[in-house]
Amino acid sequence: MHNFQAVLETIYHDAINADDKGKVATYIPELAHIDKGNLGIHLRTSDGKEYGVGDYNKPFSIQSISKVLALSKAMSLIGEDIWERIDVEPSGNPFNFLSLLEIENGIPRNPLINSGAIVIADVLISNLKNPKEDFLNYVRELTGDNTINFNKAVAHSEKVTGFKNYAAANLLKSFKNLNNPVEDVLDFYFHQCSIEMTCSQLSKAFYLFANKGKCLKNKLHITEQQVKRINALMLTCGFYDEAGEFAFEVGLPGKSGVGGGIVALLPEKFVISTWSPGLNIKGNSKLGMLALEQFTTKTKLSIF
Ligand code: DON
Repeated sequence: MHNFQAVLETIYHDAINADDKGKVATYIPELAHIDKGNLGIHLRTSDGKEYGVGDYNKPFSIQSISKVLALSKAMSLIGEDIWERIDVEPSGNPFNFLSLLEIENGIPRNPLINSGAIVIADVLISNLKNPKEDFLNYVRELTGDNTINFNKAVAHSEKVTGFKNYAAANLLKSFKNLNNPVEDVLDFYFHQCSIEMTCSQLSKAFYLFANKGKCLKNKLHITEQQVKRINALMLTCGFYDEAGEFAFEVGLPGKSGVGGGIVALLPEKFVISTWSPGLNIKGNSKLGMLALEQFTTKTKLSIF
């Protein structure tokens, strides 16, 4: 038996003393002022126990982490049809890289890079009655917490500076891989990314991926096969051009966001969430990666 609380505390103290805490994302102006001294780690085991250190109850912008939740909702709505519009290969490129999209005729490499997530946003708009509200309710239901919300200022901040996302959406539209107007799809996408959650809420929200598709309330949202696919995508594509490094160092399916969050899981064992806003050069949380590498090394709990 591991003393998880003691393990998290050791990891926290080592990480918080690191000289290099990375750089906070500034391309979304509203995120630029967040203090990179924040570090939270939260672990939720499949037997329902919770452990936390540092800033694990402070809300932050989940950004690209939302792409996994959007994908799961889209899969529950249209199933395998998704793969006619999006591929399942790692891109080996930054999350907002555009050139591949043109070469590959408007089919994004995977649903976890920006262009793929924009297609998923289009699927959700076409299949939900009140897309933003329904998606937010899905996240609230998974978490069992109705206080979770969009951060309108962050969504607006992306809308006025998101030139590459506009370029991606226009390129997708030109290849007929968006059915709804570019403005509508991006409005949904920017809101989805602006959702704020804490590490402990994220560990709850991602529980279904460690629990064969059932959320904390034991409701089945996606099938076991869909969970297998989503976890495979997180492992191979969850960290953009650093997916290999994350598998190599940490060895868990997971997803990062430019708000500095990371969530990772070991099926049927645990979900672990970290938040520290300083990013490394690839856009993944510097201290979060360090903490997760230490966690799987110290506990020997990884998929490998
Ligand atoms: O579209 C964007 O650029 C952001 N809303 C999300 C990017 C992101 O989080 C990538 N993560 N590492």
